Amino acid sequence: MKRSSTAKLNRKVTTLRLQEMKVANEKISALTAYDFLTARMLDQAGIDMILVGDSASMVFAGNDTTIPMKMDEMLYHVRVVTRAVKRALVVADMPFMSYRKSPDEALGNAARLMQDGMAEAVKMEGGRSLAPIVERVVDAGIPVMGHVGLQPQSIHNYGTYKTRGTDELEAESIIDDARAFESAGAFAVVIEKVPMSLARRITDMLKIPTIGIGAGMGCDGQILVTPDMLGMNTQFHPRFVRKYASLSDEMVKAFSHYHQDVKELKFPNDAESYE
Ligand code: KIV
Repeated sequence: MKRSSTAKLNRKVTTLRLQEMKVANEKISALTAYDFLTARMLDQAGIDMILVGDSASMVFAGNDTTIPMKMDEMLYHVRVVTRAVKRALVVADMPFMSYRKSPDEALGNAARLMQDGMAEAVKMEGGRSLAPIVERVVDAGIPVMGHVGLQPQSIHNYGTYKTRGTDELEAESIIDDARAFESAGAFAVVIEKVPMSLARRITDMLKIPTIGIGAGMGCDGQILVTPDMLGMNTQFHPRFVRKYASLSDEMVKAFSHYHQDVKELKFPNDAESYE
């Protein structure tokens, strides 16, 4: 490999670098992490952005929604992930109701994620109504990534995880939300589960990068929930998740092999024991 491309691969990813990638039409790769070993592997693989998502509430803690996640729980996940990551930009999700009540509270909680968790940016779901809060947090030196389209923290408002923005009225509202994030100083916007034509429109309109999940090829980058793309969750098969592995099958196979070996006195053997 040429020295210049190795240097590019090792270059620390910053919000500025993501902006350069948009301009250069270089796609941004992003995945979620909640634990040290996964975060280290994502970083080794060259993933550009690692989101400590509140999806941890579902895929790590087994809840039905992202709503139960608390600030202290998020902080724990952020700390273990940032301990592992050297190159990728690490973004921490702001949990439900940790940034909505007042700009002061949003700033205090975002500061904890940066200072105690060592995150390099935070993510907030919302849009126009959140603009004063985003401005306040950005003004304090904390990079904010917006999240529009399907907003999982609002699941009880929607009543369903169906695609958002399929009618023109809601599509316009999602566009306004994305624009509001940009005007308030956000460095990027996640667009979740909207028609690909809408995500492309937003991507073309904004100067900041868009990161799609279930939003098609037109976005500047892509994100998936890591346990989903690894095939660890056999209960969840939305069409936007491509399975890059079948870890659930592999892991169950390994666990039952071990179980059998213990029962049949095949583990441990002499080489695995001490004199
Ligand atoms: O919490 C999360 O993992 C997310 C991604 C789905 C973007 O917000």
